[in-house]
Amino acid sequence: MSATVRVPLIAGNWKMHLDHLQAIAHVQKLSWSLKDAKHDYAEVEVAVFPPFTDLRSVQTLLAADKLAVRLGAQDLSPHAPGALTGDIAAEFLAKLEVRYVIVGHSERRNGHGEDDGTVAAKARAAVASGLVPVICVGETAAEREEHGGAAIALAQLEAAVASLPADAEYVIAYEPVWAIGSGAAATPDDAQTVARALRECVESLRGEADSLAVRVLYGGSVTSQNIAGFLRQPDVDGALVGGASLDPDEFSRIVQFRKHVTAG
Ligand code: PGA
Repeated sequence: MSATVRVPLIAGNWKMHLDHLQAIAHVQKLSWSLKDAKHDYAEVEVAVFPPFTDLRSVQTLLAADKLAVRLGAQDLSPHAPGALTGDIAAEFLAKLEVRYVIVGHSERRNGHGEDDGTVAAKARAAVASGLVPVICVGETAAEREEHGGAAIALAQLEAAVASLPADAEYVIAYEPVWAIGSGAAATPDDAQTVARALRECVESLRGEADSLAVRVLYGGSVTSQNIAGFLRQPDVDGALVGGASLDPDEFSRIVQFRKHVTAG
């Protein structure tokens, strides 16, 4: 199992930015920039998470131009299709060739009252439709003060993963709430410590093979200036990028972190 190679994932969470026309222009620029850089998508996977209203447009562009950028959604309903005004079912996303879906982002937990039970139900719904949930976990500044760096993230991870089927594929994103959108990223050492603890949690829940295979991303004020430090850590397998993913050139530089890693 030590031979497991985890392909890094750089994921752009656009949040509620960029309408569908802006989305098309953005993905075109991103793909040109990565093409110029001769980016190998098999070496570093790239995913964008546009708002729901952009998904169809971006899907059409990716298919027409045969672009290897993966499509992600920012949320989903935990329920099957039905009388649920405003909700989006996992199977609708799957039909749009969406591969990833974010669950448990702190902006959903804190802004929309989503608790661990809801996050777990959403992760299950995603897996049931063949989507890969990106399970976000992380502590607030006050929680860090009280419980230290890893305790909250570990409890949130356990709640989400415990009820998934044994063969479920998922990605973990460690996003300390105090680092999101603040410009004050965690240190690479702190990200590594929590990423390691999360991987050990997967080992105790799911066994060694799963713990070696699962990708753990860091998120929170990632930029092209600090990405290399995170990706140098042995247990950090990529990044969930918010603000810096809105500029295609900056996001492209983040995707090409290997150039900085080898240069550093
Ligand atoms: P940020 O957001 O990169 O703007 O800090 C990260 C996220 O919320 O996923």
